[in-house]
Amino acid sequence: MIENLSINLRHSAAFVSFEEIIAHAQQSIRHIDSLNAGTGPGNNFLGWLSLPDDILPQIDKIEKTARHLQSISDTTVVIGIGGSYLGARAVVEGISHSFSQLLKTKHHDVIFAGQNICEDYMADLLEILDERNYSIAVISKSGVTTEPAIAFRIIRNHLEKKIGKSAAAKRIIAITDSKRGALRPLAEINGYETFVIPDNIGGRYSVLTPVGLLPIALSGIDIRTLVKGAKSMEEITRNNKNATTNPSLLYASARNLILQSGRPIEIQVGFTPKLHYFSEWWKQLYGESEGKEGKGIFPASVDMTTDLHSLGQYIQDGQRILFETFISVKNPEKKVTIPLEKDDSDQLNYLAGQRLSEVNQNAEAATMLAHYDGKVPIITVNIPSLDEYYMGQLIYFFEMACAISGYILDVNPFDQPGVEAYKKNMFALLNKPGFEEAGKKIRERL
Ligand code: PA5
Repeated sequence: MIENLSINLRHSAAFVSFEEIIAHAQQSIRHIDSLNAGTGPGNNFLGWLSLPDDILPQIDKIEKTARHLQSISDTTVVIGIGGSYLGARAVVEGISHSFSQLLKTKHHDVIFAGQNICEDYMADLLEILDERNYSIAVISKSGVTTEPAIAFRIIRNHLEKKIGKSAAAKRIIAITDSKRGALRPLAEINGYETFVIPDNIGGRYSVLTPVGLLPIALSGIDIRTLVKGAKSMEEITRNNKNATTNPSLLYASARNLILQSGRPIEIQVGFTPKLHYFSEWWKQLYGESEGKEGKGIFPASVDMTTDLHSLGQYIQDGQRILFETFISVKNPEKKVTIPLEKDDSDQLNYLAGQRLSEVNQNAEAATMLAHYDGKVPIITVNIPSLDEYYMGQLIYFFEMACAISGYILDVNPFDQPGVEAYKKNMFALLNKPGFEEAGKKIRERL
C-alpha cells in the first residue's frame, strides 16, 4: 500500500488539545461542503478543486511542447511573478539536482525572470543569455502585470536581435487568459504557441495548470506523477467528512485554534534546502488568501539547520507569538555517510558510519522538542520522500487546507485586493497614462 502524507499534532497538545482540534474540524466540515457546492466567497475561483482530473487532457500537449523546446534550445527563461512563478519554482527546486545548472551532463536549464525589477539581475541574466541557445515561456494570467511584462519586452528583444523575429516567435510560449490582457493579442499577432489559464483558477492555485506544469516538465520532472499525487490527496480530502482522517481539515482547524491562543505567526520549517521555494509558494498561498480585513496568520519560513544559527534564537526564546509547521521528509533520495578517521582530530568519530540523513533527522527531532519546550506549538506534516508524487500531495493538501482556513477566518481566500495599493502608487510615480493627477499628488508626499 502506498504511504500518504500525514499530519501529527502531538507537539501542539500542550496548547490545543486533540479533542478541541477534532471538535473544531467537525464544525468546519461545512466549509468543505461550501467549496464543493460553490456557495462560499470567491466561488467563481474553484476550478483548482478538480484540476487533478481536468488537466489530464492537456498533459500530452504540455509534454510535447516541453520536448520541443528541449530539442531546439538548452535553456528556457520562464517569466512570471507570484502565482505565475512560485509553484513552478517550488517543484523545480524541490525535485531537481541541487546544483542542476552546474551539471555537466546534458540537461535543459530553467531560469526564472520577471519576479523582480532589479536591473542588475536582468543585466546578469542577459549576459548569460548571450551565450545560451534559449527559449521563453512567458506566464501572466492578467497579461498586464508590470514585472513580467517588462522582463518579457527586454528578453524578447534580446532573443529577436540574436536569432531574428520570426525564429524567436517559434520559441516563445505564452500562458495567459483566454481573452483579457495584453499578452493574448501579442501572442496572436506574433504567432506564439499559447496555453490558456482558465478563468476559474486564480494565480496562486494554478500550479497544476500549464502555468506550473510546463516549466516543471521543461526541467525534466514527471508531471503525470505530480498530478497523480495531487489526485490522491483530492481523494483523501475533498469529500472526506471524517475529521480525524482528513489532514487538510485537521491542519486548518489546528492552525486557527493556535491563532486563537495568541500566536498570529506561522513558520514553515524544512530540513532540506530543496523545500526553500516550496515555503515561498506556501507563504504566497496563505498570505494572499488569508491576509485581509485585518485578519489572517502571517506566514513565514525558515530553512533548517541553516536558520538554527540565525532565527533559531528568536524562535526558541523571543516573543511567544509563533507556531511552526514542520515539513518532515522521511527518506532522502541519495546516500552520503560520514567517514571514519583514524586520529579523530575533529572528534567526529562518534558519527562515523552514520548517514547525513540520520544526523539531520536527529537535528529535526531535537529542534522540535526544544521549540515545544520553549512554548512553540508545532504541527508536523510528514511525507515519505520529496518526489513528484508527494509534491503533488503537498500541493493539494495545502491548497485545500488554505481554502478551508480562509472560510474559517470568514474571508474570501480567492481574491487579493491589497495587491493593488502599491501598483496604483507605482503607476502614478511612473506617469503611466491615466495616472497623471495621482502622480502629482503622490510626489508631494514623498
Ligand atoms: O495569486 C495571484 O493571483 C497573484 O499572485 C498573481 O499570480 C500575480 O500577481 C501575477 O499575476 P499575473 O499572472 O496576472 O501576471
